[in-house]
Amino acid sequence: MPDAIALFDPRVSDAARARVDACLRSGRLSEGPLVAEFEAALAAAFGLPRVLALNSGTAALHLALLALGVGPGDEVVTTAQTFVATPLAVLHAGATPVFADLEEGGPNLDPADVARRLTPRTKAILAVHYGGEPCDLGALAELARSRGLALIEDAAQALGATYRGRGVGTWGDAGAFSFQAIKPLTTGDGGALVLRDPEAHRRAYRLRWFGIDRAGRVADELGAGHWPITEAGHKYHMNDLAAALGLGQLEGFAAALARRRSLDALYRAELAAVPGLRLTPRTPGAEGACWLFTVLVERRTDFARALRSRGVEAAAWHRRVDAHPLFGGARADLPRQAAFDAAQIALPLRDTLDDDAAARVLRAVKAGW
Ligand SMILES: Cc1ncc(COP(=O)(O)O)c(C=O)c1O
Repeated sequence: MPDAIALFDPRVSDAARARVDACLRSGRLSEGPLVAEFEAALAAAFGLPRVLALNSGTAALHLALLALGVGPGDEVVTTAQTFVATPLAVLHAGATPVFADLEEGGPNLDPADVARRLTPRTKAILAVHYGGEPCDLGALAELARSRGLALIEDAAQALGATYRGRGVGTWGDAGAFSFQAIKPLTTGDGGALVLRDPEAHRRAYRLRWFGIDRAGRVADELGAGHWPITEAGHKYHMNDLAAALGLGQLEGFAAALARRRSLDALYRAELAAVPGLRLTPRTPGAEGACWLFTVLVERRTDFARALRSRGVEAAAWHRRVDAHPLFGGARADLPRQAAFDAAQIALPLRDTLDDDAAARVLRAVKAGW
């Protein structure tokens, strides 16, 4: 039997390896010119205004909340269908996550249910483009605007996805991306934050590096830098080594995205009529990043076992995060979340999957369970 087909198999391109090698030789490893170059490259490639490169997607979420003034006493309406970093960032900002329900049969927030969860304490909506599929950003942006709330997009899994032709992360007041090892673009670990408001951006710029306004620093004759610190910042900046990796990986990004989209179309066509399996809905007007291919299946444990026996890895990759004791346990008032959590499972779909492997995945599912 050939090796099992893994869900993820990240590869580093030769171009990226060469970039990293050059960075190592330069002796400049912390934040330097490559971080600025990577920010400019992200801005150009994805139409992102005011990009801040950071050391994780979690840092991007935390800084987004801080820069938009979310703090103690505030509520942030978000989703339980995510990685736990999403609601943890809300807690770290001192605010309270409030979980809203999902769209019917899908992994993304239902804007109508988000509207029902708003209270006078709500300060922001934090929506996740789960698996790389954009949320209904038109409805969420309109809801946020009409109620005077901030909209934050957790686009950790969705670099390259668009909604109505515009990149995710640019529809809200803030967009957070992750470049963690298995994400659509990797810097090993890393992230980026996009902020619409120039003042919020400036604040996040200071907060990513101890509260220091690096661009405004003045050095004295002793070589010491002087920076007035007015707010307790964090060590959230990206370093040049990670930026070098990101710049190299960016070169192959468009081809990788196109490959994932074409596999996604193939899987959807081939699996549409499989008994006991349902595809998740697609958002009208959106083009996804196709990072995870999640389906809903009956008798999920049997499904996972059958696929494993045929050499295909399948996993319920993100379980509902509200189930953690930290968040009070799985909420009973999220029926669609419960139904999704009970049936969802991800199949291997990645740009490093060749045609034979993709055919093996499809055969393994169609053989039944
Ligand atoms: C939806 C979501 N949000 C946030 C994060 C956090 O990103 P990072 O691991 O880069 O901190 C991740 C992934 O890890 C994620 O999947």
